[in-house]
Amino acid sequence: MKPNYKNWMPKGMIWSFAAATTVCLTLSFIIGLSWLKIILLVLAFILALVTLWTVLMYRAFSYDGKRQMSRQIIDGVADLVHLPDGGKGLDVGCGSGALTIAVAKRNPNAFMTGIDRWGAEYASFSKRLCEDNALAERVAYRTSFAKGDALKLNFPDGTFDAVTSNYVYHNIPSRDRQAILLETLRVLRKGGTFAIHDIFSREKYGNMQAFVNRLKDMGYERVELIPTDSGRFMSSWEARWMALKGSAIIAGKK
Ligand SMILES: C[S@@+](CC[C@H](N)C(=O)[O-])C[C@H]1O[C@@H](n2cnc3c(N)ncnc32)[C@H](O)[C@@H]1O
Repeated sequence: MKPNYKNWMPKGMIWSFAAATTVCLTLSFIIGLSWLKIILLVLAFILALVTLWTVLMYRAFSYDGKRQMSRQIIDGVADLVHLPDGGKGLDVGCGSGALTIAVAKRNPNAFMTGIDRWGAEYASFSKRLCEDNALAERVAYRTSFAKGDALKLNFPDGTFDAVTSNYVYHNIPSRDRQAILLETLRVLRKGGTFAIHDIFSREKYGNMQAFVNRLKDMGYERVELIPTDSGRFMSSWEARWMALKGSAIIAGKK
């Protein structure tokens, strides 16, 4: 049995844009020459471009394709998560379980928990899929998956020896994403480590350098922001066309 980590670009989204393009084109052919026809043609053109963009994203992310960007990112983040023997780690927004499992494989004497909202926007991800992938990767006995919300984690303070997450918080509608990071760090024990990858642009997160300084003032150690959008996980050009500019890992010790 092979794991199936699916794709960060939901197939449903690609089909929706393709369907909307077709509808606009069809209507523009039915309607006689008018402003409406021109508007529909322009709309069809824009939607066709968006469809093409989603297809290219899907290909770049695919675990089977040539680029395999998702695999590269998951491996790169997992390499930074170190758990002590008998330790416990948390992956917030685990999706199909890729990062939870990658960390479990690198830390053979530790236990990983993955939580996710598993909402309609990522319909192909599920708890069942995570569990099947953990079985396929032979780490089912050292992993568990549960429904949960990054905004309010269902764990007491200091539960975990390490916390991680990949491309989750920028998806969450919030005026204060730094508060979401603090909620994740709440469940990390003193002395535990963290590695969180996301799009830490100013528009999405505000001033991240100030956040790094704030963590240091709170007693956190070795806190750093490691850019991943200029060679580490993707080229600057890829980061721009894939709307991933600002991608970085925030890592450190509590
Ligand atoms: C781009 S996917 C990344 C999945 C996984 N981290 C990975 O690297 O493969 C984003 C994930 O964030 C999850 N998510 C979005 N909002 C969430 C929330 N409030 N709490 C927990 N998970 C959430 C989605 O369900 C989805 O699985």
